[in-house]
Amino acid sequence: MEGTCSVVIFGAAGNLARLKLLPSLYQLDLNNRMPDGMVVICFVREQDNTSSWTKNVEGMIRDKYGKGVDEAVLKRFLKRVGCFIGDHGEAESFTNLAKLFKDKADYSNNIVFYMSIRPADFSTVAGHLGKAKLLDERNGWRRVVIEKPFGYDLLSAQALQRSLGKHLKESQIYRIDHYLGKGTVQNVLVARFANLMLEPLWNRENIDHVQITHSETLGVGGRASYYENAGALRDMVQSHLMQLLALVAMEPPPNMSPESLRDEKVKVLKSVREIPHNAVHAHAFRGQYASGTIDGQAVEGYLDEPDVPSESTTETYAAVKLYIDNWRWKGVPFYLRTGKRLAEGSSAICVRFKAPPHHLFRNTQVERAKPNWFMFGIQPHECMKVEMQAKVPGLEMKTRSISLDASFTNEGESSSDAYEELILDVMKGDHSLFLRYDEVEWAWRIVDPIIKVWSMERDFINVYPAGSWGPRGTYRLFERDDQFWRHGLDIESADLGESLGRSRGVNQIR
Ligand code: BG6
Repeated sequence: MEGTCSVVIFGAAGNLARLKLLPSLYQLDLNNRMPDGMVVICFVREQDNTSSWTKNVEGMIRDKYGKGVDEAVLKRFLKRVGCFIGDHGEAESFTNLAKLFKDKADYSNNIVFYMSIRPADFSTVAGHLGKAKLLDERNGWRRVVIEKPFGYDLLSAQALQRSLGKHLKESQIYRIDHYLGKGTVQNVLVARFANLMLEPLWNRENIDHVQITHSETLGVGGRASYYENAGALRDMVQSHLMQLLALVAMEPPPNMSPESLRDEKVKVLKSVREIPHNAVHAHAFRGQYASGTIDGQAVEGYLDEPDVPSESTTETYAAVKLYIDNWRWKGVPFYLRTGKRLAEGSSAICVRFKAPPHHLFRNTQVERAKPNWFMFGIQPHECMKVEMQAKVPGLEMKTRSISLDASFTNEGESSSDAYEELILDVMKGDHSLFLRYDEVEWAWRIVDPIIKVWSMERDFINVYPAGSWGPRGTYRLFERDDQFWRHGLDIESADLGESLGRSRGVNQIR
């Protein structure tokens, strides 16, 4: 295990810290991955119920793990947790923070600063840290974790980078994309590059198209103030889905070093064909949820959520079609989509193969040849699946689709939360699963034309009923009539998607 360190969480009273960061740190303690002497300083404002801060944190852990809490570990963990009252907008708070680290001889000077705050405050906090000499590495390392979104568009990302660059070296910055911490996402690389079978097929000769989907049944909940300025394209597509695309499409790196890995991802992003402004509508589709029914419960539309302006045209659904102009992928469409309040909550990568070049079974009772699919289930079902054609037993030559299905986890194994892995990587100083600046910049370049066009069209947005698979009309993104959204990994989903595809654009409701 690495030497000890201290973690300072800015925005420790916020949702992310409560639901993910503090529970993940507790898990690390539970798994004996926290070095002795490691402390967690929660930087909070006076009004954040600081008088009983440890009790607050205890509540967060109990809420998350319920009866599964290990009492002895919880006690040990709570001893590590401290509360620092300050205002991250004020320089004085940072002078006081620096003093705290000077005074407390037992606090490690290897410090992780975790920015779980509004993106608009990233530069201010980095500036204050810099001025208070808290980023000076003469006496221990200093690492800053920055949550997404990194910027609001290409220009603001460049400005943010310039401003961070005044106080931080690139080696000190950890731009987090929690999707890269998901075991199933890392499995995309393992499946592709630790096996021989896939790579020879993984190209334009054999693959018809690729679909990357993240769907949620949840709405924006209490996050409207953030979401209003983000929308689905920035919130999911520019970040998480673009990373999945890079992993699916990248070339094998020469080795697994962080730079080799990120070089290959950047090459993919650079090869994505630019979308001209006048082609945005042919490449992107947006929608917003109206009221509907999820799991038998009536739910409100986006415009009725707290803090959403009544005339908002912020998209809660986004679908885009991208092409990667390189030797491997030229001409293969990549369809990415995400949405809130959809029929099901799941994330998956579905790769559809082309039809066999010669139909040997044309004069038999074989119906239309069905294509092969290779699929990664990311959540909730962590798996790999291959869909193939097989003969139906009996005297006649009939075929049906069968599924070869492999779960990623064996009985008794459970996967850890993405944040556990990523926090551990920051402690170890491993950048592999964090975004380098050029990755972020190229991802913005891809979506920027869409952002610009959508931001000018503020008087209309397609709506879809909550509980459906999104707005009507998204089928027009498909290159051909035989392509359709696949709403799940089981065989029936393919058939259903196909029949819906043929009727072009129905809001299918589960
Ligand atoms: C976050 C987005 O980055 O990812 C959320 O801001 C989204 O809007 C979430 O719900 C999805 O993450 P996960 O891990 O639940 O798939």
